[in-house]
Amino acid sequence: MASVPSLASSLHQRLADALTAALPQAGAADPLLRRSDRADFQANGMLALAKKLGGNPRELAAQVVGQLPADGLIEGVEVSGPGFLNITVSDRAVTETLAARAADDRLGVPVAAEPGTTAIDYAQPNVAKEMHVGHLRSAVIGDAVVRILEFTGEKVVRRHHIGDWGTQFGMLIQYLIEHPHELDHRAGEDATASGEQAMSNLNRLYKASRALFDSDEEFKERSRRRVVALQAGDEETLRLWQRFVDESKLYFYSVFGKLDMDIRDEDVVGESGYNHMLADTCRMLEESGVAVRSEGALCVFFDDVKGPDGKPTPLIVQKSDGGFGYAATDLSAIRDRVRNLGCDTLLYVVDARQSLHFKMVFETARRAGWLTDDVKAVQLGFGTVLGKDGKPFKTREGETVRLVDLLDEAVERAASVVREKAQDLTEEEIAERAAQVGIGAVKYADLSTSAGRDYVFDLDRMVSLNGDTSVYLQYAYARVQSILRKAGDAAPKAHAELPLAPAERALALHLDEFAETLAAVAGTYEPHKLAAYLYQLASAYTTFYDQCPVLKAETPELVEQRLFLCDMTARTLRQGMELLGLRTPERL
Ligand code: ARG
Repeated sequence: MASVPSLASSLHQRLADALTAALPQAGAADPLLRRSDRADFQANGMLALAKKLGGNPRELAAQVVGQLPADGLIEGVEVSGPGFLNITVSDRAVTETLAARAADDRLGVPVAAEPGTTAIDYAQPNVAKEMHVGHLRSAVIGDAVVRILEFTGEKVVRRHHIGDWGTQFGMLIQYLIEHPHELDHRAGEDATASGEQAMSNLNRLYKASRALFDSDEEFKERSRRRVVALQAGDEETLRLWQRFVDESKLYFYSVFGKLDMDIRDEDVVGESGYNHMLADTCRMLEESGVAVRSEGALCVFFDDVKGPDGKPTPLIVQKSDGGFGYAATDLSAIRDRVRNLGCDTLLYVVDARQSLHFKMVFETARRAGWLTDDVKAVQLGFGTVLGKDGKPFKTREGETVRLVDLLDEAVERAASVVREKAQDLTEEEIAERAAQVGIGAVKYADLSTSAGRDYVFDLDRMVSLNGDTSVYLQYAYARVQSILRKAGDAAPKAHAELPLAPAERALALHLDEFAETLAAVAGTYEPHKLAAYLYQLASAYTTFYDQCPVLKAETPELVEQRLFLCDMTARTLRQGMELLGLRTPERL
C-alpha cells in the first residue's frame, strides 16, 4: 500500500517551491494549477500574486519558470497571455507515475492517516409500508458514500433508521390480535418470493385495519389502548409488534438483495431503538431551557423559522398528549451517535423535503451541547424522482410506484439489451448479466446526477448503450477484458522510454486523476463526480481504442505499453464502479 502522488500534485509542489524561491516575500502562495486543453496543465496563480505585490505578472511568471528544477517531470513550460504558465509534463513522467499506481493494489490512492468516524443514516424504509423511489435514492446514494468513505480509510457506522415505531402500530397490532392468521404465509420459498409475500400480507393487513379504524369507533378505542400498552412495554403487545418488524425486514432485505446491496442486521437501528432515551432527551432540553412548554407541548423555537402566518414554527419534541415524535427520536439518535459511538461526523441521506426538520434538529442539538464544534452534522438531501411528465413519479392511478416493480422492469429491459449483444451466452448467463446491467442502470442514473437535483426516471435512457449510462461503462470494461484475453502471451508492461500518442497521453493523464477525484468526492459526499470521472474515462478509452491499435501495434514494446494502458483502464473502472455499487461483468 503505497500512496502515489499524482502528476498534478508533484507539479503543484514544484511550482509552489519555485514561487517561494522567486518571491520569498509572497509566503506560501497557491500557483492555482489545473488541467488545461492548451497544454497538460495551466497555472494562473502569478496573476493574482503580481496584483497583490504590485509587479508585472509576465515577469513574475518568467522568474518562476527560472526557478523550476530540471528533474524530468516538466517537458516544456511557456509564459502565455497576461502571465499564465502553460505546462507540459514529460511522457516519461506520465508513464512512470502510472506504473507506480499499477504496482499498488489501491492504484496509489492514499489511506487516511488519522481517520474520523462517520455515522451514515441511509436506507431507512418504514415498517408495514411499501418501499418507493425515495427509499431507492437514500439506499443507493448512501451505499456509495459508505463504500467511498471506507475506501479512503474513514471509520463508518451505518445506521438504517427505519420507521418502526408510532401510533399506527396500535391499530395494526389490535387488528392482528383480532385476526390472528393474517400474517401467516408459506414457508420454504426463496428470499424474493417470501419478501414479496410478506409485503403483500402487510399491505392487506394495513388496508383492512385502516378501514376498520376509520369506520368502527370501538375498534379505534381498542387501538388507542393498544398504543398505550405498546408504550408501556406490555409483553404480548411487543411480541406482536416484533412480528411486524420481522415481517417487514424480510421484505426490505429482499429488495436490498435485488439492489445488490449488503444491509446488515446489526446496523438496522430503527426509531424504536431510541425509545429508552426519549424521556431523558426531553427532560434535558426542558431543564436547560433549550425547549419550553407551549400549549402543553415541549417546543424549541427559532428566530428564522416561521410559518406562512409569520408566527414562529417550533420543533415539537413532545406532543401535548405526552407522545414523542420524529424529532425526539432524531435528537436521541444524535446523542447516541456522538456520545456512545464516538462519531465526529453525522451524515443523513434523506429527502431534501425534510431539510427544515434537520436544520431544526441540528440547531437544537447544538444548543443542548450534544453537537459540539468538533462534530459535523450534514444532511445529504436528495431531490425528487420524477415521471416523464415532470411530476413526482406516480402510477397512472396516482399511487406511488412500487420500487420492486421498477427494478423488475429494469432487469427485463436489460435482458433484451444483453440478449441482442450476446453471442455466446447461455440463458443463465443472460439472466445474471441482465440483473447486473439493469440494477446498475437504475443505480447509475441515480448516482450520476448531483444528489440535490430532481431527475426523470426513464428506463429507456437508463439502459441505453450510448451516453452517460452504466451500460456504457460496463461495455467499456468488458471490451478491455476481451482485449486482455486475446493478448495471449503478451502481458501489460509500462515502457517509460516510449513516446506517447495524443490519445494515450489523454487516457493516462485521466487515469492519474483517480486518487484526487476520490479525495474530492469523499470530502464533499458527491458520488456524481465519481460517476462523471468514470464516464470520461470510458470516453477517453474509446478514443484511444479508435486511434491506437493495441494487439496490432508496430512493435512488441508498444503492444505491451498499450496493454498496460488497457489494464489500468480496466482496474480503475472496476475500482471506481465498485465504489458506486456497480458490477463489472467480464463479458457482455
Ligand atoms: N423513515 C423515514 C422516511 O421514510 C426516513 C428516516 C430518515 N432518517 C432519520 N434519521 N430521520 O421518510
